[in-house]
Amino acid sequence: MAVFGSSDMGMDLGTSVVHIVMKEKGVVLSEPSYVAFERDTRNVITVGTEAMRMFGRTPSGIAVERPFREAHIRSFDLVSKMMSYYLREITGKRRAIRPRLYLALPSGMAPTERQTIIDLAVDAGVRSVVPVDESVVSAIGGSVRIDQPYGRMNVDIGGARTNLAVFSMGNQVKWSIEDFGGDRLDEAIMDYMRRKHNLMIGQRSAEVLKINLGSARGHGPKLEEETYGRSLISGLPRAVTVNSEEITEALEPSLRDFVSLLHRFIEQTPPELASDIFDAGITLSGGGARLYGLDDLLTSQLNIQVHAADEPELCVARGLSELLNNPNAYEKINLRSPYREDEMLD
Ligand SMILES: Nc1ncnc2c1ncn2[C@@H]1O[C@H](COP(=O)(O)OP(=O)(O)OP(=O)(O)O)[C@@H](O)[C@H]1O
Ligand SMILES: [Mg+2]
Repeated sequence: MAVFGSSDMGMDLGTSVVHIVMKEKGVVLSEPSYVAFERDTRNVITVGTEAMRMFGRTPSGIAVERPFREAHIRSFDLVSKMMSYYLREITGKRRAIRPRLYLALPSGMAPTERQTIIDLAVDAGVRSVVPVDESVVSAIGGSVRIDQPYGRMNVDIGGARTNLAVFSMGNQVKWSIEDFGGDRLDEAIMDYMRRKHNLMIGQRSAEVLKINLGSARGHGPKLEEETYGRSLISGLPRAVTVNSEEITEALEPSLRDFVSLLHRFIEQTPPELASDIFDAGITLSGGGARLYGLDDLLTSQLNIQVHAADEPELCVARGLSELLNNPNAYEKINLRSPYREDEMLD
């Protein structure tokens, strides 16, 4: 066990970014979740950064997709191929030692899909797979003390989905996966640019505007930036200067929905746990937690202290590293997805 243990690894198969961590090494791979493939055969051409660069620029025979844009997997074959590709990249270099893989999966995944993903990981060279729930590792990575006999709440805002979870004594006592995330905010910006500027912009441009100018509050720093798109009037490329107030206005309706969603979730949380959460506050993880002023907006709207974890997009990866490096510390934590029979294939 000790010999093999040194090669154990973890994988966060995010809808925006895939991270691979290794015991004692931390993150060894971070690549965007994009796949370029031949339309006819669906053979993979390339994945990750290279595929992302090709997005929107491919000839007709080639397509680039983010295989799970929504909370549910849209192109299951592509997800599988992407995962195998990355695993081989790591295991291929050290074929002699077949690692055990801690694989972070969302609670909402169908059992057959989970099993296929696990089988594919084994095909790609891992010795065995330990499926762990994404919300649990995210909370661990965000330093949320989920082992205590008190209610603790973590909200992981990813690309396509948001995991809400309340923990007590190492278990998820209440959870929900919501169809909200950074992608939704990008779409809101694209929609705003169409309506206000008659400009059609791509999702990547919208994401850049969100990151550089976006704010969850009306009083963020005053910034502006030029963005490029296609004019809906002339049909030709055009540059438009946008400011942070506009982007904040574009995000406002989606953020209002998000606040209501959190509000409902907390309302349905048993009172003892809700009062613990009121005392301890809520931790935000996932890249979405980086939106400027989001913690302040939620704190004021929910009347509960909300704070973003450090490097929130790395919480799942950090949680996986924690499990790899200090497995004994997490013996009492239920790592499995709630309400599902989890498999451990050894
Ligand atoms: N500074 C920022 N401001 C606002 N949003 C940001 C910022 N940085 C990253 N994001 C957003 O975070 C999202 C990605 O987060 P993350 O890497 O946690 O997703 P993921 O784990 O791949 O997705 P999921 O958890 O849904 O599977 C993207 O939508 C990205 O635009
Ligand atoms: Mg994630």
